[in-house]
Amino acid sequence: MTTPAVLILLGPPGAGKGTQARMLEEDFGLVQLSTGDLLRAAVAAGTEAGKTAKAVMETGGLVSDDIVLTILAERMGQPDVGRGVILDGFPRTDVQAAALDALLAGTGQRVTAAISLEVDDEAMVGRVAGRYTCAGCGEGYHDEFKHPATPGVCDKCGGTAFKRRADDNAVTVRERLKAYHTQTAPLITYYDARGVLERIDAMGDIATIRSRLGSIVGRVAAH
Ligand code: AP5
Repeated sequence: MTTPAVLILLGPPGAGKGTQARMLEEDFGLVQLSTGDLLRAAVAAGTEAGKTAKAVMETGGLVSDDIVLTILAERMGQPDVGRGVILDGFPRTDVQAAALDALLAGTGQRVTAAISLEVDDEAMVGRVAGRYTCAGCGEGYHDEFKHPATPGVCDKCGGTAFKRRADDNAVTVRERLKAYHTQTAPLITYYDARGVLERIDAMGDIATIRSRLGSIVGRVAAH
């Protein structure tokens, strides 16, 4: 029996982690696990952790490791994770990376690959500010780069309501970029030292990046 793949997508806000993770789900049957989505669900549910997270997310800073690790461990315990996962937006600190290693070691697993999506910061501000998603199924779109085939109708579920994230404004995006460079980018070295780092130029169009990523995932997830 092959071990389920554990893939990490590393990259700043707007790098395309969520967009590509959803495509990898379709292409490889893996499960996307986004700590940003889990935190937004906690905010929407009004839990104590959600209330604390909301205040931090609005500033563009990182939510505490304790809160993130609790929701991540809970999600990793669900049965669909056995198909293999794409971690989107996790880990983001050295504490989270070490905790992930320990969690996986408990089931005899390890990180299969950490894929760094390499992009220009300035382009990310435009990407994030133009983003919107289907309110029904969460499919992502962009004012300039990705429109629904029929204007105003979601390609995936046919929904007609769309929403924008509260933290997708130019000021907060710059704070999120800072948090990425100071707290998360050092993980590139962490995974390089473990021999599982893959780098990808993520400045092409969405289909091109999908194909580049697919080549990497096809190679590493087969082992
Ligand atoms: P999170 O939800 O993870 O946001 P993020 O990392 O800032 O990433 P984004 O979702 O903004 O970008 P993305 O890379 O997924 O890009 P996307 O594919 O949507 O985190 C939000 C907050 O939660 C954090 O700030 C923090 O407070 C907290 N948090 C989350 N995880 C945490 C953790 N582990 N620890 C602590 N705190 C945590 O693409 C963006 C747009 O560009 C879309 O409109 C898309 O259509 C378009 N696009 C994508 N690719 C391309 C392309 N190649 N060309 C043109 N357009 C493109």
